Amino acid sequence: MFVSNIEVMEEVSLDQRAHISVMPQEVMHWLRVRPGSVVVDGTLGLAGHSILIAEALGSQGHLIGIDKDKTSLTEAKKRLASCSLRVDLLEGSFGDVERFLAEVKIKAVDGVLLDLGISSFQLDDETRGFSFLKDGPLDMRMDQSKGLTAADLVNTLKEEELVRIIEEYGEDRLARRIAKAIVWRRAEERILTTGQLAKIVLRSLPASYQRGRIHPATRTFQALRIVVNQELEYLKDALTHWFEALNPQGRMCVIAFHSLEDRIVKQTFKALAEDGRGQILTKKPLEPTQAECQVNARSRSAKLRVIERVS
Ligand SMILES: C[S@@+](CC[C@H](N)C(=O)[O-])C[C@H]1O[C@@H](n2cnc3c(N)ncnc32)[C@H](O)[C@@H]1O
Repeated sequence: MFVSNIEVMEEVSLDQRAHISVMPQEVMHWLRVRPGSVVVDGTLGLAGHSILIAEALGSQGHLIGIDKDKTSLTEAKKRLASCSLRVDLLEGSFGDVERFLAEVKIKAVDGVLLDLGISSFQLDDETRGFSFLKDGPLDMRMDQSKGLTAADLVNTLKEEELVRIIEEYGEDRLARRIAKAIVWRRAEERILTTGQLAKIVLRSLPASYQRGRIHPATRTFQALRIVVNQELEYLKDALTHWFEALNPQGRMCVIAFHSLEDRIVKQTFKALAEDGRGQILTKKPLEPTQAECQVNARSRSAKLRVIERVS
């Protein structure tokens, strides 16, 4: 089990709003972008990786950038404005492979990058409700136009369901205590802010937990974020569909930030390799160098896996 992206956030300065792209050199090496080819960045964010990809694609290339988050797409658009190649920026979940290909009227691509999770830009914005370090509305939706918020979940789910979520997606042994505290507290008042929830979790745990390496609310916040954004539900299918959209010798790079999503990437790649269609290029996942971790604490939990389409 490795630490999650959120788990290292106490080390990140609070005014660090810009996102530092994770493992940029490794991504560019393994994605092997050829000038004039077609590359999909399925988790565009602030286009940190995409700017590098655009440079490598050259003016004859085609970059397709996808994100669920409207604000990130708007920022990314500004950052890519001076690029001379064809750029299509699309809003939605990267799982909608067929829809996106139809929208840009192509059948196959040469490279796909998925840098999973959320960006520092989202994490550090207290109005988005991802962070337990700043008080804000308990939202956590990447796509703020639809779906249930984290507040909806903590105020309505049955205690047993809260236990399951915190245990399964937060991998927290003390899920039962936390769920009980949430249910007890919400009988008094609705839990509407990140600060309220962080305090409830903190108070529900033994003092020894409060001296641990990670903030006691880390796992609960991770669990809720995964459920709110259905982060794991479509991952396997999305990976398979993007792989199937690759041209022969096309490559897919995926960066995961917690063990649950990394396990899905590993198993999906294994299945694609076993049926002879793919070759895994990273026997073990690549991790950021120590130097990168020092500059960008959030990169610490990253695992990069790469697969190439054989036929
Ligand atoms: C880690 S950030 C990507 C950062 C980007 N690579 C960069 O260098 O700037 C992940 C981004 O993917 C988006 N995202 C996460 N899951 C998504 C999904 N299922 N579909 C579309 N976008 C998603 C998030 O909104 C976020 O902007």
